Amino acid sequence: MKIFSANLKNLEELYTASLKKTLDMEQQLTKVLPTMIEKTTDPELRSGLQRHLSETEGHVQRVESMLMDLTGDNDTETCKVMSALATEGSDMLTDADNEQVCDVSIIAACQQVEHHEIAIYGTLRSWADLLGRTNDAAVLEQILEEEKNADRVLSMCSDKLNVEADMAA
Ligand SMILES: [Fe+2]
Repeated sequence: MKIFSANLKNLEELYTASLKKTLDMEQQLTKVLPTMIEKTTDPELRSGLQRHLSETEGHVQRVESMLMDLTGDNDTETCKVMSALATEGSDMLTDADNEQVCDVSIIAACQQVEHHEIAIYGTLRSWADLLGRTNDAAVLEQILEEEKNADRVLSMCSDKLNVEADMAA
């Protein structure tokens, strides 16, 4: 619960505040993904997560540069959604009793993150369009496509791994 309001007065202020949370979201994800990669036993899932980690590092840089252009600094605001999703994901890994359940738990946790990111980038791209920030809108669209692709890769991995987890002892 917030004690003080940020008193955002218009769409540009809301856009700026949301970009700051998005930067924090991506920074948090660069810290969470290595643990997921380490715990993954499936080679296909591991390589998908490794590719998305390097994409995520690129997202940090691109969001940072949009913020620098907009405000002159790269200050962040805590993304509480990502903090909660990271805790939830970590709890799922603790609860997994075997490799198969661990792998599908990683997929579930990562897809929750991807769906949140897809929602955020879709919103930010629409706001950038409305604000006439054409370059931002193009970059946000590219990031959105990378998030959608990461989600598709996770869905493909889940088709196989969910069955294996279903057959695990
Ligand atoms: Fe991302």
